[in-house]
Amino acid sequence: MDYSTLFARPSVAILSTSITIWISYLVCLVFYRLYLSPLSKFPGPKLAAASKWYEFYYDVILRGQFTFQIQGMHKKYGPIVRINPFELHVEDSSYWDELYTGHKEYERYEWMSGRFGANTTTSSTVKSDLHAIRRAPLNPMFSKRSITKFEPVIKQKVELLSKRIASYTDSGKTLALNNAFNAFSGDVIASYCFGFCWNQLDSLDFKDNFHPAYEAVRKFAHLGLQFPIMFIVLGLSPSWVIKSVTPNIHKMFMLQRDLKSKITNIINGATQERDHPTIFSELLGSDLPTREKTLGRLGAEAQQLIGAGLETVAWALTTTVFHLVNNPSTLKKLQAELQEAIPDPAAIPDSLYLERLPYLTSCVREGVRMSTGVSVRLPRVSRDKPMKYKDWVIPAGTPVSMTTLDVLNDTEIFRNPRTFVPERWLDNPKTSEGDHLTRYFVPFGKGPRMCIGINLAYVELYRVLATLFRRFEFELCDTDISDIEIAHDFFVPSPKQDTKGLRVKVTSVKVY
Ligand code: HEM
Repeated sequence: MDYSTLFARPSVAILSTSITIWISYLVCLVFYRLYLSPLSKFPGPKLAAASKWYEFYYDVILRGQFTFQIQGMHKKYGPIVRINPFELHVEDSSYWDELYTGHKEYERYEWMSGRFGANTTTSSTVKSDLHAIRRAPLNPMFSKRSITKFEPVIKQKVELLSKRIASYTDSGKTLALNNAFNAFSGDVIASYCFGFCWNQLDSLDFKDNFHPAYEAVRKFAHLGLQFPIMFIVLGLSPSWVIKSVTPNIHKMFMLQRDLKSKITNIINGATQERDHPTIFSELLGSDLPTREKTLGRLGAEAQQLIGAGLETVAWALTTTVFHLVNNPSTLKKLQAELQEAIPDPAAIPDSLYLERLPYLTSCVREGVRMSTGVSVRLPRVSRDKPMKYKDWVIPAGTPVSMTTLDVLNDTEIFRNPRTFVPERWLDNPKTSEGDHLTRYFVPFGKGPRMCIGINLAYVELYRVLATLFRRFEFELCDTDISDIEIAHDFFVPSPKQDTKGLRVKVTSVKVY
């Protein structure tokens, strides 16, 4: 007798019943999402409304393309679109203030807040009251006054950067300035966090910087967002497996371990005297509730603070320097201003003085606008009350987002938005509607979740740009706009995958 058929028949029956139930469930789910959901009245592609696999396809398979796909949806469906079964997106620059500054009770979207595997950091905190508790002890450290006190350290790092760049003049070697900027901003933010840094500015060709590790995590985050279990898998995998499969993510694990040991040293009082306060000494000494001072939470906070401080500033510098070197007439105007304002190139004044230089200020602002900050959408959720957009009533609990990229490239506000025109910021300009242009300057976000590091970022940007363009002449080397323009959204804007960075030759130096 053939026993196998006895067992095979019931298992085939169970399998086919399960498949039928599963398919029926999917059909009902899609029907609900398309026709019965409170969001079904909002315009947008049916496929996107039916399933998150749509976003998966654009962000995971096509690698960071969903942000552009959303722009395409707006062209077809108008200023408000349903971008997935649960979310709406608005492309209307005049709505920015309402969404981000009008309601301090708006929360982050829980699903997206864990995209880097940790949802206990200040920036990933969902609830607005808990966010305020976590942000409160950080605020004084990032005030203009505190950053001014920290400026001597920034100055010292800029001087080191400048000295290293000068060493490329005689050698005629190509210099990847993007690496230099990543090393610089990494050393600055690490010093502010711990009074210690990894001296990446001293590394060979500035290659020992944290950018590849953060970039790997950001790229992974699109997958992690769709399948949060991937973070658990990563966390449980043996170190040697991660190291051989994805060495850059392994570097992030090593950094995380290092950051925790720095925090443990502060807790144990095993740190050296510093001549400036540090973020983590202040955080640990603050009246933040004890449950908020766990090693796990502060380790994640350190990782995110370093990433936030490193990548945005380095990218803003890379973008601004590229456009200046690529536009000789614009660069000439900046150099003329710097020469007059800074007679001795060896003595670069402090940022309070530099911020009063109009053309430099316009270059900084235009560079930050074009570098965008973050390229991903920034959702907000009104938990209890419906939101309103024009005549649309948005059900409470619905995540609604806008993208800084859209506002900063809105052709109604910024003519030829992908052209570097510092002049657009001169003389208190207004839009054709009579609004101050600065209303639409949103690369740092706005409202209670706005970038906390804006003052630090500005001091870095002013000092580096004034120093480099008062002291050096650069020539682009095998670098063009495709090495700078956004081609992928990996949370922050990323150029084409095979870019070799912003490569220059240093052709002249005025000090040393
Ligand atoms: C050019 C430089 C920078 C740009 C364009 C930028 C942009 C942004 C943006 C767009 C946000 C999100 C705002 C939102 O969710 O609405 C943000 C948040 C944040 N940024 Fe920056 N950033 C820059 C530099 C820095 C620096 C130097 C630091 C220092 C550590 C920093 C730390 C943070 C933190 C901690 C948050 C989360 C704030 C919160 O949720 O309360 N950023 N930044």
